[in-house]
Amino acid sequence: MRKYPFVALGMAGMLALSACAGEGAGSSAEDPAGESQAPEDVLVGVSMPTQTSERWIADGDAVQSGLEDAGYTVDLQFANDDIPTQSRQIDQMITSGADLLIIASIDGTALSSQLDAAAAADIPVISYDRLIRDSEHVDFYVTFDNYQVGVAQATSVLHGLGLVDEAGEPAEDAPEGPFTIELFAGSLDDNNAHFFWQGAMETLQPYFDDGTLEVPSGQMDIEQAAILRWSQETAQERMENLLTSAYSDGTELDAVLSPFDGISRGVITALQNDGMGPTIEEGLPVISGQDAEIASVHLIDEGVQYSTIFKDTRKLADQAVVTAQAFLSGEEPEANDTETYDNGVKVVPSYLLEIDTVYADNIQELLVDSGYWTAEEVESGVSDSE
Ligand code: BGC
Repeated sequence: MRKYPFVALGMAGMLALSACAGEGAGSSAEDPAGESQAPEDVLVGVSMPTQTSERWIADGDAVQSGLEDAGYTVDLQFANDDIPTQSRQIDQMITSGADLLIIASIDGTALSSQLDAAAAADIPVISYDRLIRDSEHVDFYVTFDNYQVGVAQATSVLHGLGLVDEAGEPAEDAPEGPFTIELFAGSLDDNNAHFFWQGAMETLQPYFDDGTLEVPSGQMDIEQAAILRWSQETAQERMENLLTSAYSDGTELDAVLSPFDGISRGVITALQNDGMGPTIEEGLPVISGQDAEIASVHLIDEGVQYSTIFKDTRKLADQAVVTAQAFLSGEEPEANDTETYDNGVKVVPSYLLEIDTVYADNIQELLVDSGYWTAEEVESGVSDSE
């Protein structure tokens, strides 16, 4: 017996019923016979990729508490960045009778059989932050505007070089250059990495075209720039190799496009070990980032890393909860983008959230005043919850 009758009806049935259900999101639902389904009997499986990066811990905690506040029972699992572990954890959630799944995938192409099993049991699947690809059984996608993340990362690097203002408009007294830059991308099996790269490269392209920016290593393809699993160590190694192959003749490095704070810190370590810096003022290139991880926010405050992209995971978690409540109440979740995210099989209805660029001078406003980090955490570079 399925615990949650609405879910067993599939989308068409749910939509038909939603017209007469009359229940607000999050309230205990009724089955078609009018029997009440207590929220605590509804099990939501939440699958997160890893605990090595603090954003996913924050995401997992926020999704769990939001769902629990709505009364649901939650099974939260982290997969240690290991694909078989994630597959196994999701299989387990399905076997335990999950009524809905929220999944941030490690490899977006590796979950087809889990999604087939979920569909066979009429379990809606919400793709969280990262799009699950190559499956028709992704019901919804909650994320940030990933293309815009890439645009913002590249814009911050151009801003650091004095070429544009914070809005990306050409600076009045822009220096001529040329400037040198090296490019890093995320993990190729993560759909987001491609959006970040595309947004960034389209923003940088005019500056490559007119010769303002040069890539001394010549490595300008995403395959060359990619860092598997977004690993800090792999990024450090790649930067060390680039220094040896393209900078040992004394060529200076002015900027690094980095898609993630962990990668930024790997790059910074390689550069500082090579004798650069330790701050931007003392010769370190301008380096972007993403996630506003506390170690990187601290480095930005200290003038070591130039920028990061703040994605408020509290808002994403809220959006996932609202979406889950809609599915579980037999309603259609609200999408604000029904065109961008083609997963290879279908365009997945999505809800995109906005992002912010963090520089040293707006840490207080964006991160401290909003309660994301305390001033003490920024000062120490360590999260209080660690
Ligand atoms: C997320 C980023 C994160 C990266 C590494 C991406 O899918 O969107 O926020 O920096 O994974 O964890």
